[in-house]
Amino acid sequence: MNILVTGGAGFLGSHLVDSLVDRGHDVVVLDDLSRGEKSQISTAAKFVQGDVRLLDDWERAISQHTPEVIHHLAAVNGTKRFHDEADLVVDVNVNGTINAIKIAKRLGVRLIFYSSPEAFGEQENMPLSNSSPSVFPPAIEHQRHSYGASKYLGEILCQFAVREGLDVRIVRPYNVYGTRLKGGKNGQVVSRMLEANPIMVHGDGTQTRSLTWVADVVEGMIRVGEYELESGISFNLGSTDEISMLELAMIISKRRSVEYKFCEPNHGDSRRRIPDVETNSLIDWQAITTLKEGLDQLL
Ligand SMILES: NC(=O)c1ccc[n+]([C@@H]2O[C@H](COP(=O)([O-])OP(=O)(O)OC[C@H]3O[C@@H](n4cnc5c(N)ncnc54)[C@H](O)[C@@H]3O)[C@@H](O)[C@H]2O)c1
Repeated sequence: MNILVTGGAGFLGSHLVDSLVDRGHDVVVLDDLSRGEKSQISTAAKFVQGDVRLLDDWERAISQHTPEVIHHLAAVNGTKRFHDEADLVVDVNVNGTINAIKIAKRLGVRLIFYSSPEAFGEQENMPLSNSSPSVFPPAIEHQRHSYGASKYLGEILCQFAVREGLDVRIVRPYNVYGTRLKGGKNGQVVSRMLEANPIMVHGDGTQTRSLTWVADVVEGMIRVGEYELESGISFNLGSTDEISMLELAMIISKRRSVEYKFCEPNHGDSRRRIPDVETNSLIDWQAITTLKEGLDQLL
């Protein structure tokens, strides 16, 4: 099958590309390399360097081959950037998705849109299900929800396209961790804790996450792309095991023999993010790798 993966040089996208190539698919990657790395893209895939905000760059990508499925992952990601670069986050995440829908409609092909549990904002009722309302605080307080709101708008655009007959599926990955995950100041929590010395715990560390191993999530992504399903269904690809960030820091600090200390909380950090996994039975999927097994592979 011909498959286009936007954001295919990034963490999740590059693992997806590896897996698609292994299964014999013909893959084209569209990525501007603003965060992803060319070295992470399988040499068996074709690569077009371009910006998902620009329709001309999409045209260059689809001229490589006409995709039958589009996985749209390209987005500005990295928690600290959501407040610091709110204008860019909204621009790339919303306009990139508008273009993904335009191209999928024109070609009449299946679109997989990568949303996020952050699309529910500060919703405190768990688990987060496909009928949970999104809750956003006043924008004047902070702009951290540029990301969650952009994903919420992405979902609105997708559901509108479903009404117009497009085959769209929505995936919300839950705190995925694994090899190639970026650490550093804009990085994700597991990689930051694996790199930092001392390990920094935001706030009091009682906030929890559902950490999910990358290979499990990629298997779910492939199935969402392949299965015959009704259009418009959302899949919360996440583990139902919850761990507090303090517990995680304690486990990793012990294994790395480094200290941990507390620092300022992130603006608008959600207390918990537990996925409702009901629709995952449609793709026979659940997270199977335990945190211990995942960390064993990384350490
Ligand atoms: N990793 C997670 O736990 C997680 C959780 C929820 C949602 N998601 C979503 O999954 C997708 C992939 O996430 P990831 O963790 O791999 O992030 P990532 O930052 O590693 O990958 C994103 C990729 O998009 C590319 N990109 C950014 N702006 C672009 C632009 N204007 N044009 C073209 N390419 C551009 C980057 O270079 C990068 O390679 C994103 O849409 C993200 O919002 C990820």
